[in-house]
Amino acid sequence: MFTPKGFIDEAIKNVKETIQDEKAVIALSGGVDSSVCSVLVGEAIGDNLTAIFVDHGLLRKGEAEQVIETFKDRLNFIYVDASEEFLDALKGITDPERKRKIIGKKFIDVFEREAKKIDAKYLIQGTIAPDWIESQGKIKSHHNLALPSGMVLEVVEPIRELYKDEVREIGEELGLPDAIVHRQPFPGPGLAVRVIGELTKEKIKVCQDADLIVREEVEKSGFDKELWQYFAALTNTKVTGVKGDQRDFGYLVVVRMVASFDAMTAYVPEIPWELIKNISRRITSEVPEVTHVSLSVSDKPPATIEFA
Ligand code: XMP
Repeated sequence: MFTPKGFIDEAIKNVKETIQDEKAVIALSGGVDSSVCSVLVGEAIGDNLTAIFVDHGLLRKGEAEQVIETFKDRLNFIYVDASEEFLDALKGITDPERKRKIIGKKFIDVFEREAKKIDAKYLIQGTIAPDWIESQGKIKSHHNLALPSGMVLEVVEPIRELYKDEVREIGEELGLPDAIVHRQPFPGPGLAVRVIGELTKEKIKVCQDADLIVREEVEKSGFDKELWQYFAALTNTKVTGVKGDQRDFGYLVVVRMVASFDAMTAYVPEIPWELIKNISRRITSEVPEVTHVSLSVSDKPPATIEFA
């Protein structure tokens, strides 16, 4: 029978046996899978694991600080602020799929640059069961990964057999904070899929500020329990508003709240009106660049959960 404690003991034993005195690296994003994996392997091999946290500058407000705070004393941890590098690479790009490709490639470049400084033999990955079941077992359980520079790492996946709810139980048992264990899913390319059109520092900041308000209000109201994801997206449209006695021309923010089981389909539930009004009032008064807030009411399909 699955028990978090039993799983942890067994996983630590297996990781120790596999890795022995070699070095390993992991890309730590702060998501529940990579966080649980990092701590588990850290318990097994200590400082022979280096956790590399690449900040692409497209995280939610306060997220980088939270990840640093959680792991800096618990793991052999490297923080890489690559935000300028990512923003440069994304200059002028508006097509969502190109943004994703550029971010994916840049991520590997930055990770590899850091990994090369460590004489690692193993790459730890936080793959979980749905990741390989959905790809019909195409990800083999034992495989090597060649990085673009020719560096080859042996992949170890300690939580490969687990489902998300089990990963969360393990995270709790390992004493990870609630904010990490019960974090809503957040896409790898981050706010790049929520800021429509070209990514600029201003647009990223406006999206971050609005998003923090959505998270705070939804969590305060308790409505987060009903939702799979809840966030703010930033359109590329400026619309007229009035601030004080001046007409103003500002951004249109879209609030998205969806319920879902597995993100394959999603629906917009009935949202308490007061919650929507509070979010709108706060965003337009606390984020000066925004004049209008609208609510997305489209289910998936035909809409996707993300915007870009
Ligand atoms: P969509 O927008 O396709 O999203 O309905 C379904 C789920 O996947 C997440 N998502 C991504 N995750 N890289 C990721 O790691 C991506 O490029 C990406 N695009 C969407 C989205 O947040 C939702 O949970």
